[in-house]
Amino acid sequence: MPKRPYEILLIGAGNRGAEVYGKWIRSHPDQLKITAVAEPVDLRRETAAKDHAIPPSRQFTGWEEALSKGRLADAAIICTLDQQHTLPALKALECGYDVLLEKPMASRLSDCVTLVQAAERHGKLLQIAHVLRYTDFFQRVYHIVQSGALGQIITVSHRENVSAWHMAHSYVRGNWRRTEDSSPMILAKSCHDLDILYWILSSRPKSLSSVGGLKHFRPENAPSGAPQRCLDGCPAAATCPFYAPAVYIDLEPIYIGLSHAQNRIIRLTGHMMQRSPGVVRAAATIIPPLRQITDYTGWPRSIITDQPSDPASVYEALRSGPYGRCVYHCDNDVVDHQIVLMELENGVSVSFTMHGHSFEECRTIRIDGSQATLLGKFGWNQTFIEIHKHRGGKYQRIEMPNNIEQGGHGGGDSGLMEHFVKALDGVHDATLTDARSSLESHLMAFAAEQARTTGSVIDMPTFRAEVEKTTLFS
Ligand SMILES: NC(=O)c1ccc[n+]([C@@H]2O[C@H](COP(=O)([O-])OP(=O)(O)OC[C@H]3O[C@@H](n4cnc5c(N)ncnc54)[C@H](O)[C@@H]3O)[C@@H](O)[C@H]2O)c1
Repeated sequence: MPKRPYEILLIGAGNRGAEVYGKWIRSHPDQLKITAVAEPVDLRRETAAKDHAIPPSRQFTGWEEALSKGRLADAAIICTLDQQHTLPALKALECGYDVLLEKPMASRLSDCVTLVQAAERHGKLLQIAHVLRYTDFFQRVYHIVQSGALGQIITVSHRENVSAWHMAHSYVRGNWRRTEDSSPMILAKSCHDLDILYWILSSRPKSLSSVGGLKHFRPENAPSGAPQRCLDGCPAAATCPFYAPAVYIDLEPIYIGLSHAQNRIIRLTGHMMQRSPGVVRAAATIIPPLRQITDYTGWPRSIITDQPSDPASVYEALRSGPYGRCVYHCDNDVVDHQIVLMELENGVSVSFTMHGHSFEECRTIRIDGSQATLLGKFGWNQTFIEIHKHRGGKYQRIEMPNNIEQGGHGGGDSGLMEHFVKALDGVHDATLTDARSSLESHLMAFAAEQARTTGSVIDMPTFRAEVEKTTLFS
């Protein structure tokens, strides 16, 4: 019999650990309970301890100390930054924890393989947070393809359109801006998409090539006279899409996103917050539900300071922290556009485009089969699937709530947690939770980066054989 709620050791109480998984756990107390936390930042550790009633004896300043105590809980959720995944995950598996590990598994391919081998050797669950698999949208696309409704699949074109301000936030100013300190963007951002393609099409790539680079976020593209920091009197303040006070103080991108919501009241409030925020704030004093919008202090503002509801802290973060820097004067080196071309073992051709210059945050997919074409959009503003039959002109459109209405990653964050609980129950859906299948997207990402940086076409069987030789991959 399942023994819910399962006890959890949370490693890393930052954005993913505390704001995403921690929040989900608090609202599902019958399923999971955080009973121990490892986090070096005092305020984050103390907040997590308070939120989850964790006693002092189970609060640790790092995974090293927490995992030196042996097994303190049923499972560990590891949400440290990319380059700090391997060691805590290996140690947790060795201690006997089932593990939910944030993506990417690791920032070196050999470490990804080592992790899969360790999970298999210890007979423990290692689930990677490939949240897209758990969204209603990609589940439906998967089942439509598997059902044969499109006929034989011939070719696929998939795009990850990262909005320009999100690109600037995470990959120009933020934690994932430098390959050396995190991972290549094709791994950090797009291992989800490569995973989805591998999963939906049920085939590995046979050959792969890639082009792309960092084109825009460079000093030579700075507006004339732009200072190092937005707050230092930038002459482009009124027009620059990356002007930090507009993003983090006014939260312009969030309200623009809300103004496309399907719910009429949310849509109107989003519009009003852009034009007359004072009026909405006044209205919120008599209509309390509006405060969820007017008092929003979540991502991305919560990333720049641990006190996002304190205007002075937000301002100080922009004055002196990394997120107040001019996007043309940062120390970033990851790409802002990349295309991967693949021929799969089953003969399907695939093109995947990732870029950070979109007006809206969305993924789009087109799958052409011998019987029908699927067009899909999975976005903040709109989510739908269309199936166009080749014979008879039949057409079906499935409208879904957009990603803002579905919540974190279009419902993927909560779907992931629900599946993690089921996996702890012992109900393993190998297509959803198996670390070895997550490894495939990582192999593709590392091969794509090699192809891009060397200008070569990667023969995947050879690439795979090399990895096997060096890591005893079996
Ligand atoms: N699944 C997804 O879609 C998704 C989305 C965003 C981020 N991520 C991944 O999630 C991971 C975490 O990202 P984040 O945005 O939450 O980062 P974050 O910086 O907000 O959180 C990381 C936390 O780890 C803590 N930490 C550092 N050293 C530690 C140690 N020795 N022991 C325990 N904790 C330690 C940090 O203090 C910080 O609080 C990253 O790998 C990121 O790529 C995944």
